[in-house]
Amino acid sequence: MRQPLIAGNWKMNGNLASTRALLDAVSAQAETVAQSVEVAVLPPCVYVPETSTRLANTSVRWGAQNLSEHASGAYTGEIAAAMLTDFGCHYVVVGHSERRALYGETNTLVAAKFAAAQAHHIQPILCVGETLDERDQGVTLTVVTQQLEAVIQHSGVEALQRAVIAYEPVWAIGTGRTATPEQAQEVHAYIRSMIAEYDATIANSVRILYGGSVKGNNASALFAMADIDGGLVGGASLDSAEFSAIIQAAL
Ligand code: 13P
Repeated sequence: MRQPLIAGNWKMNGNLASTRALLDAVSAQAETVAQSVEVAVLPPCVYVPETSTRLANTSVRWGAQNLSEHASGAYTGEIAAAMLTDFGCHYVVVGHSERRALYGETNTLVAAKFAAAQAHHIQPILCVGETLDERDQGVTLTVVTQQLEAVIQHSGVEALQRAVIAYEPVWAIGTGRTATPEQAQEVHAYIRSMIAEYDATIANSVRILYGGSVKGNNASALFAMADIDGGLVGGASLDSAEFSAIIQAAL
């Protein structure tokens, strides 16, 4: 059985006071479901030290939203995997569509970041997903295949045993326009079948989260789908009541 994972991607939001309040609220909620649902938060990088202090001795895991593909050196403004390890990061998001679209991250770069995270025992949450144009052109599965293949070719299919995949259709992110459970399930099932061509056991055990306008009122229907193993939640993860409703929907 795949344990559901609900991860909050806070993106570039909040301040120290709101971060503390949200961490306390989420850790209290997570205690009540700790046996059955895994909960994680992904705050902005500067709040990771505060997060590690505040969430120590709770069931909530934490991580970062990005990392450098390099181990160290003259890369002004970048954060290395080993630095995230210093602060107990369990996860790091790689290949989020905002980084692909706004910062030009290619499949090759995302594969290098994925490997850099795993080299320091951090689980990448690998984001894949198509734009609206790509969906309209009927190339959704081709795009997702290329995004996944880049990682498999670089790190091997075995690497997916220590990673999470997040299917996030770009047109559903921050738009309030969620993929229907059937639309999401179709892509999730495809991803699993594609991995199964390499290794059926790994395909069956890897968690595939859905992301894109997940809210308290649509989470249950999404999580009821056979191949949806939880959510990568943006906007709704900043509201502790809404995030709590999403966690409950994964029970
Ligand atoms: P929203 O939940 O705000 O649509 O964001 C989804 C997302 O990008 C999570 O990584």
